[in-house]
Amino acid sequence: MQVRVYATPALLHGEDLDGATAIVIDALRMTSVAAAAIENGCKGILAVAEVEEARVCAREAGAFLGGERNALPITGFDFSNSPLEYIKERICDRRLVMSTTNGTRAIQSAATAKRLLLGAFVNASAVAERVVLEEKVGIICAGTQGAFTLEDALAAGAILWRLKERVSDIIMDDMALAALALYAHAKSDLHETLHKTSHYNRLQRLGLFDDLVFCLKEDQVFSVPERKDDGWFR
Ligand code: MLT
Repeated sequence: MQVRVYATPALLHGEDLDGATAIVIDALRMTSVAAAAIENGCKGILAVAEVEEARVCAREAGAFLGGERNALPITGFDFSNSPLEYIKERICDRRLVMSTTNGTRAIQSAATAKRLLLGAFVNASAVAERVVLEEKVGIICAGTQGAFTLEDALAAGAILWRLKERVSDIIMDDMALAALALYAHAKSDLHETLHKTSHYNRLQRLGLFDDLVFCLKEDQVFSVPERKDDGWFR
C-alpha cells in the first residue's frame, strides 16, 4: 500500500488521486460531525461548498441543513457544526446537507478519487479497517483557510498508526511519516498538544470545549461516511 498525506488541499495536484481512495480529515469539527451523524442513523450527507447552494439542495431533497461559517451557526440552518447536536432523536432517518468553512471544501478538492471517505479521531480505527485492501491511499487534511492545522495532521497520524497495525507493507511519503511521528509524540494527551493551536483555541473561546472533548476522543464511532454513486455520504 502506498500512502500520501496532503497537509492542505492546495497541495493536491491534477492526477494525484486517480485510482486512489481518499480520506478527508477535518477533525475539528466537520468530519467528526459527519461520522457522528451517520452513526446516529442519518440517511445521507451531501457536502456543499456554498451556503446558498446548500439551501437549494436541502429544499430539493427535503433534508436538514447543518454547518457553520467561521465556527458560528448559520442563520436558518437546522444544526450548527457541533457534533453534540446530531443525536439519534434529531437525525435518525433524515438526510443532511452540510456546508462548512473548510471541511466541505476539502471534500470537493478530493472529488476525483475512486473512493472518498471521511475520517477523524473519533472513527480512526474504523477508517483504517475500511482501507486495508487498498493499493493507493491519499489522506487530505482540510486545514483552516488554506493553512496547515496540527489537529488534522495528528488525526492523519492516528489513522496511519492503526493502518500500520493492520497492513505490513506500507510505503509512506514524508508527510505521512511526519504525521505518524507527531501522533506518536502526542497520543497520550491530545488536548495538551493542541491547546495552543489556533482552531482549538477559537472553539474554546466560543464556549465549545465539549465539542473538543468529543472530537478528540478516539474510536468512539464505528461509522465511516463514504461517498456513494449519487454523491451522498452514507
Ligand atoms: C470547518 O469545516 O471549517 C470546521 O469544521 C470549522 C468548525 O469547527 O466549525
